[in-house]
Amino acid sequence: MFRYHFSFLVLILVSTASLQAEDSALDLFRTRISPILKSSNPSSCTECHLSGVDLKNYIGDTQEETFASLKEAGLIDMKHPDQSKLLTFIKRAPEKQTPVSEKARNLEYEAFRAWIHAAVKDPKVAAAKTETNQLGPTLPLEVIRHTRQDRVVGSFVENVWTEIGRCVSCHSAEMNRKMIGRNDNTKEDIDAISWVVPRNPAATLDKLYESGNIDTDDPYASLMLTKPSGLSDHGGGPKFAVGSRTDKNYRRFLKDYAAILNDEYQDAKELPEPSKQVAFITKQNLRIVDLPEKFGRKLLRADIYRWQGDKWSETPWGTAENAIAGKRHMWQSYVLATAPRDSARAKKLKPETPLPGGRYLIKIYIDQEDKVKADRDYVLGPKEFYGQVEIKGPWKVGYQPPKIIHAPVKD
Ligand code: HEC
Ligand code: HEC
Repeated sequence: MFRYHFSFLVLILVSTASLQAEDSALDLFRTRISPILKSSNPSSCTECHLSGVDLKNYIGDTQEETFASLKEAGLIDMKHPDQSKLLTFIKRAPEKQTPVSEKARNLEYEAFRAWIHAAVKDPKVAAAKTETNQLGPTLPLEVIRHTRQDRVVGSFVENVWTEIGRCVSCHSAEMNRKMIGRNDNTKEDIDAISWVVPRNPAATLDKLYESGNIDTDDPYASLMLTKPSGLSDHGGGPKFAVGSRTDKNYRRFLKDYAAILNDEYQDAKELPEPSKQVAFITKQNLRIVDLPEKFGRKLLRADIYRWQGDKWSETPWGTAENAIAGKRHMWQSYVLATAPRDSARAKKLKPETPLPGGRYLIKIYIDQEDKVKADRDYVLGPKEFYGQVEIKGPWKVGYQPPKIIHAPVKD
């Protein structure tokens, strides 16, 4: 009798327990997971994945469908629910979280953690099968990688930040205080144009975006491009020529950034190629004097080849590009160290490292027909080759004085 009674009790306990698990998993799904799907706020993933990844991608219409497809994708650990890959995705936080994003992330984490714990214990949910298996990001992995925030900041560093030295004197709060009071500028005026966050390219990019200096509908109309390229009025005057290397780099970044924020990439084939060369500031400068007057304002590029004992380097070790000064028969530019992207030399290059002293061949290209003005993507080549000059010896950093060469003599 006693025995009988006992097993009856066990039976009741087991069935209520499983009934409760079922109820609570479903309750949790309805009250805490579905609202994430229906929310108009982006999920915490979008702090790092600027396109193509959202926690909403992982939530289906029913808990069975959701659970089965997360399990199928290896995102749920049946034995150790806390080690589920989906939870590690949610837990991933940027170094500096905002209070708002931290709160949102914690809510998502606790919701999924509670539901996964309940669901693995619920035999019906745990055994659910999926027919569609369509949950998760729909974009190819290459696109997901390309649109990650760390990659985007990497592209900003490569295309814009490397030459930020040309903007900091007026746009970094650390250096532009002297502008306060000049031309009736108040502190507020100068603070309003202080979009450079010192030593922090990621924060600088955010600030450029938030202050409206990047136009994601029409990226080439962005003020961060039109002002320094002289296409619109700029308190600092033109800083680089339309069609120059810097112009190409700014445009490469802006076009890609806008496409990412607009979720335009659907296929790996649509992703842009990175530039063929990598380049870093050397702090060295080059000046060419005695240029014919008719070349005033034309774009000039100097490619710098290094002597390697028995021949010139196959690809340039350095490059410099700028418009020729008006009537002064003179051209000057800072020098970048360069190498083909996948070369051994590219891996060794570092910012602010001068080219070593020695023997160099400087090949000069002049855009006599203003081809880059008609086509900003045009790259000066053999047709624009003007002449070459050899130099030897040490090459000091700074521009007082720069390395000075004479234009090749022509008749
Ligand atoms: C703090 C930044 C950050 C956050 C937030 C973040 N991720 Fe990621 N994610 C990364 C990085 C970095 C990678 C690169 C590959 C790696 O290290 O796993 C990645 C990779 C991925 C991948 C692809 C895996 C692969 O093989 O490349 C997916 C899918 C993914 N994350 C989904 C998510 C989801 C879903 C969320 C939100 C719940 C999220 N991530 C939140 C930084 C983040
Ligand atoms: C000699 C000082 C000076 C330098 C150097 C300079 N600028 Fe400016 N810039 C200004 C001044 C002054 C303004 C405010 C007047 C205006 O909008 O043109 C300004 C405005 C801007 C704005 C609009 C800012 C805003 O929020 O309204 C952008 C974007 C900009 N500059 C980009 C650049 C970039 C990029 C560089 C470097 C390649 C650069 N500037 C270099 C002086 C400078």
